[in-house]
Amino acid sequence: MRDLAVPPLRIAPSILSADFARLGEEVERVIASGADVVHIDVMDNHYVPNLTFGPIVCKALRPHTKAPFDVHLMVKPVDALIGMFAEAGADIISFHPEASEHVDRSLSLIREKGCRAGLVLNPATPLSVLDHVMGRLDLILIMSVNPGFGGQAFIPEALNKARAVRQRIDAHVAAGGRPIWLEIDGGVKTDNIRQVAESGVDTFVAGSAIFGAPDKDGFYRGVVGALREQLDAFSAARRAA
Ligand code: DX5
Ligand code: ZN
Repeated sequence: MRDLAVPPLRIAPSILSADFARLGEEVERVIASGADVVHIDVMDNHYVPNLTFGPIVCKALRPHTKAPFDVHLMVKPVDALIGMFAEAGADIISFHPEASEHVDRSLSLIREKGCRAGLVLNPATPLSVLDHVMGRLDLILIMSVNPGFGGQAFIPEALNKARAVRQRIDAHVAAGGRPIWLEIDGGVKTDNIRQVAESGVDTFVAGSAIFGAPDKDGFYRGVVGALREQLDAFSAARRAA
């Protein structure tokens, strides 16, 4: 498993909102603009009512950046695609527990294939899905919209959920467990990312907020810089407290 070499608070652009006609260039530009992780939303028109990328696209993007690929599977069934995305260059693979008949098996499979493993919680998914599998997790992804589309409004209840998951992760690490990233996905923008950080999230997916705000030269330095500024202000306030 490769070292991901990312900062403690990570910006993960969702390429769902990028220009699909020049995806490689979009990935290069958004990472060159200061983002940390490439979030790849895989939708199957079955688990969610939309259709996006398969492993072939992931593989085609791999030579364009060294940044970690965070593959968010919104597919059912899950297991067959795990190996394919691992071979296509995924670093992290997450899936929705409702989409797998055997959650523990799918999580194990992801790590067997050499990737970090994540579980995704929909807005109405209870935290009890985390019981008994914390030791298998590298990432917990909280959906702050219902999965399927970019550009939806942030569901505020996700902040309460993030706080509760943060407590679980801290307790797990204090008991000797390995670290787990806490990611949020949906409706994150410059005007709410700080509040999201305050709830204990460390990895921030943003699709439409980033790709909808290109600089004049087609890069994303302005918006990624503004998101980073909010995170830096949060970190500085926390250090001062
Ligand atoms: C929704 C996807 C998200 C989406 C986020 O199913 O998982 O990653 O692209 O898009 P924004 O940031 O536009 O809400
Ligand atoms: Zn996503």
